[in-house]
Amino acid sequence: MEFKLVQKPGKKHQLFVLDSADALKQIPDLTDKEQRFASDAFKADQAHVTINQYDRFILLFLVKDKKTDWQTLEGIRKGGAELQGLLNKLKVNEITITSLSANTKAAYTLAEGMALANYQFLRYRTETKKITNTLGTISFTRQSITVREVDQLTAITEGIYRARTLVNEPLNFLSAEQLAREFSSMGKQAGFKVTTLGRAQIEKEKMGGILAVNRGSIQPPTFTVMEYKPAKSINKRPIVLVGKGIVYDTGGLSLKPTPASMDRMKSDMSGAAVVGGAMYAIAKLRLPLHVIALVPATDNRPGENAYVPGDIITMYSGTTVEVLNTDAEGRLVLADALHYAKRYKPELVVDFATLTGAASVAVGEHGIVCMGTAEDKTKQSLNESGFRQYERLVEYPLWDEYGEMIKSEFADLKNIGGPSGGAITAGKFLQHFTDYPWMHFDIAGVSFSMSKKGYIPQGGTAYGLRMIMDFLINYGKS
Ligand code: BES
Ligand code: MN
Ligand code: ZN
Repeated sequence: MEFKLVQKPGKKHQLFVLDSADALKQIPDLTDKEQRFASDAFKADQAHVTINQYDRFILLFLVKDKKTDWQTLEGIRKGGAELQGLLNKLKVNEITITSLSANTKAAYTLAEGMALANYQFLRYRTETKKITNTLGTISFTRQSITVREVDQLTAITEGIYRARTLVNEPLNFLSAEQLAREFSSMGKQAGFKVTTLGRAQIEKEKMGGILAVNRGSIQPPTFTVMEYKPAKSINKRPIVLVGKGIVYDTGGLSLKPTPASMDRMKSDMSGAAVVGGAMYAIAKLRLPLHVIALVPATDNRPGENAYVPGDIITMYSGTTVEVLNTDAEGRLVLADALHYAKRYKPELVVDFATLTGAASVAVGEHGIVCMGTAEDKTKQSLNESGFRQYERLVEYPLWDEYGEMIKSEFADLKNIGGPSGGAITAGKFLQHFTDYPWMHFDIAGVSFSMSKKGYIPQGGTAYGLRMIMDFLINYGKS
């Protein structure tokens, strides 16, 4: 999607954003009759009105104030998704938004909803031309948005599109090595450094968690390090993003049943996609932040040489782990990356991972289960970003008792807890490999959608990316 700033609305399709029917008077393009028609429609509780002026459409969108700002914004975002559907039905290529609303975020948020809803993954469809959305450009009049906001929309939308596409790509294209190549080309395009450790280096480093999970695979693992370091940054020590990069999770020998569990497991690298997409947007926006992203990647499969329940492995950190379920693989690869992050003496580490079915069971598709050791101030601003972007956070506790549940008789840790508290015992496992302020985001419930819901498409969602970008853009302010 292309976003542009224009001086004047112009003669083609227009979209006006209003707070009330009174503002219709300010639109010179409407006749008295059209104004009355729109005003009646708004009175009848229609959120948007389309006026067909033969050679162009005038769309009118009414902002509805809700109880809170974040609910109002989400209403606008959803409205954007509806308009996106409408504009494509009308075969519109370009629309110019003029905001007459007092809500300074209205035009941005409406366009965001339109752009997020307009995403398509068509690489494997053969009749591409016929099904490609017509809408390709959203323009804004000067009064409606700032230059910086246009840049943000552009960078974040592109980051989300790329992250969603990575999630949607199946294993027969997106191996661990291919994922690393994708990051490398994103780095070249956006301006961040990408280095990838291959099998030999991962072996040399003794990244025992990654190597154990990779044993059943017929393809090598990768460990990708992305770094964006501007000349001037407001953080003294880096912020590190870590993403789970399981390019496919069969469960390994603790094999998942196929229906409704394994069939969506190409999405088990959603955490990696989110941090890669975020790096892309961060670099494009030239944020004054030193940010590093780490992605440990492999598929998880049964194979002749696969790791087995009962194996005791030595992790990168030296910690020993008794593997009691090969399907609890995410924490093993993440633990090695979290240990690797220590070398940066980071100011903050955040990880994104489709880690547990338990997180999905707990909050469903409506939020992220999070936990961590970051300062309250950090948690507070992450939480606010979550509300503003409608990618909300639910914090779970890291109480000691959950740590007891992953102690093993034969090794330092075991990789599963008991029958309950599964999202937290997974988090406790990760915590063991941290020594810095840290937040864990379990996106298992939100990373992949089985059907289209407003601006959330079927397939990869990139959920969490807008939340973390909002947090980083506001980092250090307040
Ligand atoms: N990738 C899965 C978690 C998952 C489940 C993601 C559903 C998305 C949707 C993870 O590797 C896994 O298999 N976790 C197990 C852990 C258990 C064996 C302790 C789970 O949650 O069942
Ligand atoms: Mn698993
Ligand atoms: Zn997994």
